[in-house]
Amino acid sequence: MHARITGTGSYLPHLALSNTDLVKRGVDTSDEWIVERTGIRSRHIAEEGQMASDLAVEASLSAIAAAGISAEKIDLIILATSTPDYIFPSTACLLQSKLGISGAAAFDVQAVCSGFIYALTVAEKFIHSGSHRCALVVGTEVFSRILDWSDRGTCVLFGDGAGAVILEASEEPGILASALHADGAHHGILEVPGNVCDGKVVGLPFVKMDGPAVFKFAVKVLAEVAREVLDRAGMDDAALDWLIPHQANIRIIQSTAKKLGLAMDKVITTVDRHGNTSAASIPLALDVAVRDGRIKPGHTLMLEGVGGGFTWGAVVLKF
Ligand code: UT7
Repeated sequence: MHARITGTGSYLPHLALSNTDLVKRGVDTSDEWIVERTGIRSRHIAEEGQMASDLAVEASLSAIAAAGISAEKIDLIILATSTPDYIFPSTACLLQSKLGISGAAAFDVQAVCSGFIYALTVAEKFIHSGSHRCALVVGTEVFSRILDWSDRGTCVLFGDGAGAVILEASEEPGILASALHADGAHHGILEVPGNVCDGKVVGLPFVKMDGPAVFKFAVKVLAEVAREVLDRAGMDDAALDWLIPHQANIRIIQSTAKKLGLAMDKVITTVDRHGNTSAASIPLALDVAVRDGRIKPGHTLMLEGVGGGFTWGAVVLKF
């Protein structure tokens, strides 16, 4: 049994903060530096009290409508986030409750910015095994909650948002190949090294990153995993209609496209408007390009991501 994406959806909080807005709020930076080093111009920030599950429910309803199904048909929910509503229950269970459904298996996946690639790959394996037929796969983040606004090396990079897909059992091929990897030895170059113990935060509850080390690692593994997944699919890069990479930095995206021999007009980019929305960035970019008509049924897509852990992975699929 194959697994095909039959609907996409996304949601962004209303408040958009430009680079100049960050400067006005006291961040020691400039629009010129952020645009030149990252390609980011603006990002969306959740309202006070707006949680990852609140963004996820909007994205999910939009994906459910696009797939033309009723929510009751969903028998599996896999949600990727590093900014869950609570320690427990999972944000997937909270989303299930907000969707007004019950009974479906529901769990979170934690692979930071590769989270959606991990979640989609796991969902495909459930469907391929025949145990489940209709999955809701979501990436949702409120990264603004874990930013240290006095650390200009991280706070200008991230934003909030959610993206979702419906993945259904199908006679027609959808997901053609996938590859997932991790190397925990590199956990220290991108982390939020804190937890809650005895009612207190122990360690640091903010993103801490060695930007240049992450940059180098990302460029290397994204090129490698792209080749690996194309080999697994028995394709070469000319077969791709679109590359939808994790949206962290336009320079990382350009470098990956160059290594793949893909022109930038075959790459979907939203990093300028969304910033880095971690697990949400790939399904958000996918939904933007489906809705503006660039991605059409029958197109061949590569989705790929890299993030804290370190984790990385890629999926090739027929849309
Ligand atoms: O989802 C995966 C997670 N993240 C990523 O993929 C991010 C990967 N890394 C990057 O995108 C880049 O490394 C950054 C955009 C984070 C930083 O760019 P860079 O070109 O690697 O800069 P840098 O960290 O080497 O810093 C260069 C200079 C430093 O000043 P000095 O020491 O040369 O005087 C920084 O203090 O830029 C300074 N700087 C800033 N200046 C203005 C760092 N952040 C800022 C800022 N505004 N926001």
